[in-house]
Amino acid sequence: MKASERVEALLVQMTIEEKIAQMVQIPYAQTGREESLRWAKLGAGSFLHVLGDNAREIQQAALHTRLGIPVLFGIDAVRGHALNDHATIFPTQLACACSWDREIVREMGRVTAREVATDGLHWTFSPLLCLSRDPRWGRVNETFGEDPYLTGELAAALIEGYQGDDLASPESIAACAKHFIAYGEATGARDANDSSVTYRKVREVFLPPFQKAVDAGCATFMTAYGAIDGTPLTADRHMLRDILRDEMGFDGLVVTDWSNVTSLVRNQHVAADGEEASLLAALAGNDMMMNSPEFYECALRLVREGKLDEAVIDGAVRHILTVKERMGLFEHPEKTGVPGCIGCQEHQQAALTAARRSVTMLKNNGVLPLQKAKKIAVIGANGNDIRAQYGDWTYFTHPRPTPRQDAVRPYTTIWESVKKLAEENGMACEYAYGCGPVPSTRDDLEDAVQAAQGADAIILVVGDEISQIGEAKDRANLMLSGSQIALFARLRELRVPIITVLLSSKPLALGAVADETDALIVAFNGGAHGGQAVAEAIFGVLNPSGRLPISFPRHSGQVPVYYNQLPGWHGGNYCDLPQTPQFAFGEGLSYTDFSYAELWVDENTLTASVRVTNTGNRAGLETVQVYFRDCVSSVLTPVKSLTQYRQIFLEPGESRQVAFQLSRSDFSLVNQREERVTEPGEFILMIGHSSRDEELLQAHFCLK
Ligand code: NOJ
Repeated sequence: MKASERVEALLVQMTIEEKIAQMVQIPYAQTGREESLRWAKLGAGSFLHVLGDNAREIQQAALHTRLGIPVLFGIDAVRGHALNDHATIFPTQLACACSWDREIVREMGRVTAREVATDGLHWTFSPLLCLSRDPRWGRVNETFGEDPYLTGELAAALIEGYQGDDLASPESIAACAKHFIAYGEATGARDANDSSVTYRKVREVFLPPFQKAVDAGCATFMTAYGAIDGTPLTADRHMLRDILRDEMGFDGLVVTDWSNVTSLVRNQHVAADGEEASLLAALAGNDMMMNSPEFYECALRLVREGKLDEAVIDGAVRHILTVKERMGLFEHPEKTGVPGCIGCQEHQQAALTAARRSVTMLKNNGVLPLQKAKKIAVIGANGNDIRAQYGDWTYFTHPRPTPRQDAVRPYTTIWESVKKLAEENGMACEYAYGCGPVPSTRDDLEDAVQAAQGADAIILVVGDEISQIGEAKDRANLMLSGSQIALFARLRELRVPIITVLLSSKPLALGAVADETDALIVAFNGGAHGGQAVAEAIFGVLNPSGRLPISFPRHSGQVPVYYNQLPGWHGGNYCDLPQTPQFAFGEGLSYTDFSYAELWVDENTLTASVRVTNTGNRAGLETVQVYFRDCVSSVLTPVKSLTQYRQIFLEPGESRQVAFQLSRSDFSLVNQREERVTEPGEFILMIGHSSRDEELLQAHFCLK
């Protein structure tokens, strides 16, 4: 890669020490002020997790070095600028993915960028493009779910939101597509474990969303912790150079994940010491090393001893300086954003809209919307726990850089919002803690039963909590934890209709709760306004339109249950459980109904069309989903794959023809030679309401 004249001129002037320092990323909070300032004076290229005046001080130190190269500041602003305690807190990526709405996600990106930039920072480690095909993994909440197509579409939108039209704009920040690659596929869903995948499978399933990130102009990529076929991604030259750069066309900056270089020695045991690890990481194509400060001394020694070619260092520094230049940092080292915008009304409104669109109703025997009740009982710790509602990656759950334990308004819990709407409708309501996801001395099922006695409806909020969410918090058992199942059973005995709300970071195996509840709403972690959105759906102020971006298993032992399985399972069922998930990818109910008819496909023009009608008496938003199956292929291909979708808003009784323009590449596969090709032959196109066979119309067609 040839960089700009300015970057090339800087490279000529830089000493080897200055170059290698650019490749070091220092975690401010862990390193401390004094040591961080020392690094800034050495010319460290980047710092992470530092806010406000601390960041300004570091930047000033960098600007006063010999060449005055500005520092790039990174932060995990993955659902809004949520490590800042006054910022706007959006739903998690998983919750946002329930909207299936590119514009909602793009807007989350725009708002986040504005707030991060207003804090003077430049770079968010987002979006996360790993696929959640095993819900036991601790980081499911950070993903867009299980599907490569949906993940790629939403990721591209989020990147566009962060980066805008011009990275140099005061309101734009750099995005980071992570973690490259197949990190979500870690064996046994054990965070950072190796992934049992082949390169062909990586190309087939995991690369497509990352390709969309490259095509969207994503400025940076982060390498995964894990390993494929014995090679840690941090040391995988073929993956980082041949595939990511040469084939996929990525020309930005590659940063390792946290301590990845150190891990080559300490955890993965493929390098004997820091020098070997640094050599592997540099040769593989990592440009910047996050929290592996030993890289500085080690790489210096390697170059001086002639073991590492300075051209490798030049290549990395070229990428780093080019991103800094594209961001306009040489002219304006500090982003200015929009003063006063952090947590402002307009941004809160965007988070509320996202929360509303993420509410997903999975069951309703008619109890919802709640209109006639005189008395309502809200039960469950998660019904009034903002910490659980927020979930991961907020100032609560990551003590650095803002070690704050109390919640900052505005936010509303489910209980607070239900109470408000109930009182506006003249209904009485009561709250009882009942129990939380993790046993505690506060658990009191009797008190909950008493509170629910005489109620016309129970809103039972179950789920998980922060000790069960995130990095290194993988679960072996996906059943509702603590006394939550017992609590449901006790409440059931009252014969009062139960509306169950799942406030969790991921799909859980709900068992009898799913079978016996009268209604089920999935909220996931809706952020500051998640409580309001759920309450509005319960009372019918909001017509829920969320669709699952991930399937729900019936039991932990049934995993994986993702919808795009490969065929060939003898019998197609466990002897003690069906193959079908409890709730499938794409599912979600509304207060109206939609019918599908008149599916046709023109195999010459590759156009398809279907008639969708709102047959109910309320306006609603439908997500028209298009799947296909390759009938005979040279390698196994999924029983169905999502290839497009469209969202349409229909008034009661309204009917619309929805057309799709398909292309040959939509039906491609990766063959045994690892080439992406479209094989001629018979295909089935399926269009409908969800990935379930019974909700899809089918049409056969041939590709020549
Ligand atoms: C480790 C996580 O895996 C990654 O997603 C995150 O961006 C970095 N730490 C920085 O906090």
